Amino acid sequence: MRGGWLQFGAIAFASYAIAEDLAYSPPYYPSPWASGLGDWEDAVEKAREFVSQLTLLEKVNLTTGVGWMQEDCVGQVGSIPRLGFRSLCLQDGPLGIRFADYVSAFPAGVNVGATFSKELAYRRGRAMGAEQRDKGVDILLGPAIGPLGRSPDGGRNWEGYSPDPVNSGILVAETIKGIQDSGVIATAKHYIANEQERFRQAGEARGYGFNISESSSSNIDDITMHELYLWPFADAVRAGVGAVMCSYNQINNSYGCGNSYTQNKLLKAELGFQGFIMSDWSAHHSGVGSALAGLDMSMPGDTAFGTGLSFWGANLTIAVANGTVPEWRVDDMAVRIMAAYYKVNREEAQIPINFNSWTRDEFGYQHALVSKRYGRVNERVNVRARHANLIRQVAAASVVLLKNKGSLPLTGSEKTTAIIGEDAGPNILGPNSCPDRGCANGTLAMGWGSGTADFPYLVAPAEAIQNEILYHGEGVVTPIFHNWATSQIISAASQSTVSLVFVNAGSGEGYISVDGNEGDRKNLTLWKNGDELIETVAANCNNTVVVIHSSGPVLVNEWNEHPNITAILWAGLPGQESGNSIADVLYGRVNPGGKSPFTWGKSAGDYGAPILREPNNGNGAPQVDFTEGIFIDYRGFDKANKTPIYEFGFGLSYTSFEYSDLEVEPLRSRPYIPTRGKTKRARKYGESDDNLSSHLFPEGFDRIPLYIYPWVNTTDPAKASMDPHYGLPTDEYVPSGATDGSPQDLLPASGAAGGHPGLYDVLYEISATVTNTGGILGDEVPQLYVSLGGPNDAKVMLRNFDRFTIAPGEAKVWKTTLTRRDISNWDPVSQNWVISEYPKTVYVGSSSRNLPLSAPLPFRKH
Ligand SMILES: *[C@@H]1O[C@H](CO)[C@@H](O)[C@H](O)[C@H]1NC(C)=O
Ligand SMILES: *[C@@H]1O[C@H](CO)[C@@H](O)[C@H](O)[C@H]1NC(C)=O
Ligand SMILES: *[C@@H]1O[C@H](CO)[C@@H](O)[C@H](O)[C@H]1NC(C)=O
Ligand SMILES: *[C@@H]1O[C@H](CO)[C@@H](O)[C@H](O)[C@H]1NC(C)=O
Ligand SMILES: *[C@@H]1O[C@H](CO)[C@@H](O)[C@H](O)[C@H]1NC(C)=O
Ligand SMILES: *[C@@H]1O[C@H](CO)[C@@H](O)[C@H](O)[C@H]1NC(C)=O
Ligand SMILES: *[C@@H]1O[C@H](CO)[C@@H](O)[C@H](O)[C@H]1NC(C)=O
Ligand SMILES: *[C@@H]1O[C@H](CO)[C@@H](O)[C@H](O)[C@H]1NC(C)=O
Ligand SMILES: *[C@@H]1O[C@H](CO)[C@@H](O)[C@H](O)[C@H]1NC(C)=O
Ligand SMILES: *[C@@H]1O[C@H](CO)[C@@H](O)[C@H](O)[C@H]1NC(C)=O
Ligand SMILES: *[C@@H]1O[C@H](CO)[C@@H](O)[C@H](O)[C@H]1NC(C)=O
Repeated sequence: MRGGWLQFGAIAFASYAIAEDLAYSPPYYPSPWASGLGDWEDAVEKAREFVSQLTLLEKVNLTTGVGWMQEDCVGQVGSIPRLGFRSLCLQDGPLGIRFADYVSAFPAGVNVGATFSKELAYRRGRAMGAEQRDKGVDILLGPAIGPLGRSPDGGRNWEGYSPDPVNSGILVAETIKGIQDSGVIATAKHYIANEQERFRQAGEARGYGFNISESSSSNIDDITMHELYLWPFADAVRAGVGAVMCSYNQINNSYGCGNSYTQNKLLKAELGFQGFIMSDWSAHHSGVGSALAGLDMSMPGDTAFGTGLSFWGANLTIAVANGTVPEWRVDDMAVRIMAAYYKVNREEAQIPINFNSWTRDEFGYQHALVSKRYGRVNERVNVRARHANLIRQVAAASVVLLKNKGSLPLTGSEKTTAIIGEDAGPNILGPNSCPDRGCANGTLAMGWGSGTADFPYLVAPAEAIQNEILYHGEGVVTPIFHNWATSQIISAASQSTVSLVFVNAGSGEGYISVDGNEGDRKNLTLWKNGDELIETVAANCNNTVVVIHSSGPVLVNEWNEHPNITAILWAGLPGQESGNSIADVLYGRVNPGGKSPFTWGKSAGDYGAPILREPNNGNGAPQVDFTEGIFIDYRGFDKANKTPIYEFGFGLSYTSFEYSDLEVEPLRSRPYIPTRGKTKRARKYGESDDNLSSHLFPEGFDRIPLYIYPWVNTTDPAKASMDPHYGLPTDEYVPSGATDGSPQDLLPASGAAGGHPGLYDVLYEISATVTNTGGILGDEVPQLYVSLGGPNDAKVMLRNFDRFTIAPGEAKVWKTTLTRRDISNWDPVSQNWVISEYPKTVYVGSSSRNLPLSAPLPFRKH
């Protein structure tokens, strides 16, 4: 048996035993205080000045949400009326504004992954940030890079970019820059290893009939953590992300929001994160424990939705007053929150909140949970600007052409076009009829869950295609939206010049189950009879084009080689302009240039990292062992020697490209010297006041029921805290070193936001020529891979990419780079990145399995 800190209750119970054979998360204390590293210097300085003016209660107000449905946004912290500082508004999500009207529904993250376009990622981020800003939101709850996509059926994979950490890392950084350039704080989430919906929350799992007492634990070794799951978070931190959201799951049997190793050590000490960590909604499980383990903001503030009680709020005030949480820790929470605020120039961008998450009506309750203060809560501000054009552009750029025997592009003058499948048509109950998009009716343009937005309209594929045909004025068009109308389908298909079959498969967040898919997909096959539908059409029409809308890979091997299937396209989850964007590609206005952001295997088993479906630890936390290490998606296929149907990075064009002239030039660089030395000591800002009588509710204060306030009810701390375990001796739940504010050792791999700055030094410049050898203008995504050469390394790993438009006959020289991080492995012994002695190779090509150019990397030690 081994001791551990159970992060549950207001305190962390000591001497709770972790069985020897369960993964264990080593303690790392104290929680690092913001130092103003690198380009955070100004923001942290302004934050310190601001926080220096605050009382303890005001600081606590900044850290704690006021409770579920108590204000306009999905999360809001307390305000500081004395300084005219309004409550910060936090709002979902990664593809648009949830719970609001007159907003845009952008393409999902996975579509951005498929564009492989840094520019489009930035522009989409900027537009999403602008919409949030114009509704009055301070903190956008996205982008998502966790789940990364360990398993192809993971419910929320689509909210992020790709199971490849470099695709995700580069695109998340651009998204964050875009959002924050609009003056809104971005949130990188969910930190970390939140790779399956099943068992992510014990209560939710019980609802599905699994009697477990704790959330599942993602058990990950240090190398896999650094080389895979932490990688894109490092890019997010380096891009200046203001907030990180900790996740529902445990990591090595310690909760995401109470894990000192992931929060204090990895994120704050090693990656040098200067912003704040907020809890996922109800992922906060302990008061003192989480504060010491690095959590900075409790969301939505209450212990569970609507309890009116909080692990923080009054409890945090009491914990500072009774000395268990050092005042510098609460000061650091406030400094980090305000640093993020200044980092994005919020003070210039902030406008009043003009919507309310809990009603689309103009008038409603300000405090919806308790139906208090009726008034005008929704000004119905249209924030969409001209974003529809960008949405259509991103969606079209993300289409991946998987097969084309020459039938595409279409002309629009085809004599007869059949459009077949429910996925081609509208949801007859309206595009937003299912709350949080939790159904599968009509065309699929978004997954389900909190990462959704209301469609302002949804252009269904059939609508845009029919318009196309009418515009040309020659063809006949037959749309059929019923997947089981076999005789009508056979009749239409057999009379058509071309049949466009639309099929789908969705997934989403665990609190909604659609057709038995409890967030995660229950299988990798198409929904609603999709395979049979395709085969029926193909048996009757020799020019069958298949379009797939899905949140991830589906099994296509039953029919992808069918001679009558002349083209296959994956359009992902394209958002409001779905129909227009697919028509752009089908009719050749846009030459497809998207590349698959994941691998298409022949069977679910080929992926090798399955979702844990059944509890495996009695009633305790299910143990999800990430034994596959870094070998997910294409790395796993390569390692197991499994041939995919379509590989990661693959996508065709209406033109063709050739690769030539690879050149590798080593650059001089400074040596990589591990960071040494110590931090400064922790500092307190503003007044101290340990006397609880100064923290009593003001006389005559008009309390909103069930609202979370920082004040106490009585000067008796045990009574005020209402905690049955109040007052247990601190040595039982305050980990050793947790309250130590003295200078701390710096970690060897630390030094700047994103980790040691030397990791980002460019060690090689690489160039290659890409020539458009076909007849029309097109986009190509040249991809750079490396092999690090060691026995435990992946065969190849993506390291960089770009996307270019190239004219017919034109040869473009692609210049790219490899950094030190790109050719290093994580060494758990020295706790740093090292360049191994194994011979390394660099590859350039158009997919993870089509790498025509390669060269050995000249050896270097540093
Ligand atoms: C989890 O345990 C593994 C194996 O001991 C260790 O390598 C890793 O650093 C631990 N990670 C965390 C976050 O505790
Ligand atoms: C804390 O925030 C609440 C909600 O905005 C506000 O009513 C209260 O006055 C604030 N308390 C302090 C001490 O500023
Ligand atoms: C769940 O498991 C606990 C612990 O074994 C047990 O006490 C409880 O009765 C079980 N509940 C149900 C509904 O099976
Ligand atoms: C303080 O936290 C404890 C801990 O779990 C909780 O039971 C109690 O209700 C909280 N008190 C308040 C005033 O929110
Ligand atoms: C201090 O206050 C916190 C929050 O209410 C409580 O959980 C803890 O038990 C208290 N500790 C002591 C030593 O009184
Ligand atoms: C909408 O979807 C639900 C669940 O996916 C299904 O039960 C229902 O029949 C559908 N309704 C229509 C009108 O298609
Ligand atoms: C897979 O799941 C989908 C969606 O729930 C369902 O329509 C389909 O029948 C399932 N496929 C198999 C082979 O069970
Ligand atoms: C292809 O389509 C034609 C109709 O155009 C049909 O006669 C033929 O049987 C189909 N081929 C296959 C393999 O299904
Ligand atoms: C399909 O069949 C028609 C009629 O037999 C023929 O004219 C046409 O060329 C065929 N199309 C393809 C794509 O094979
Ligand atoms: C706390 O403040 C109250 C009211 O101002 C005062 O009566 C009391 O003596 C103070 N307690 C301590 C320990 O300073
Ligand atoms: C404080 O007192 C009020 C009024 O007596 C009561 O409703 C409430 O439950 C108490 N606790 C908290 C945390 O507000």
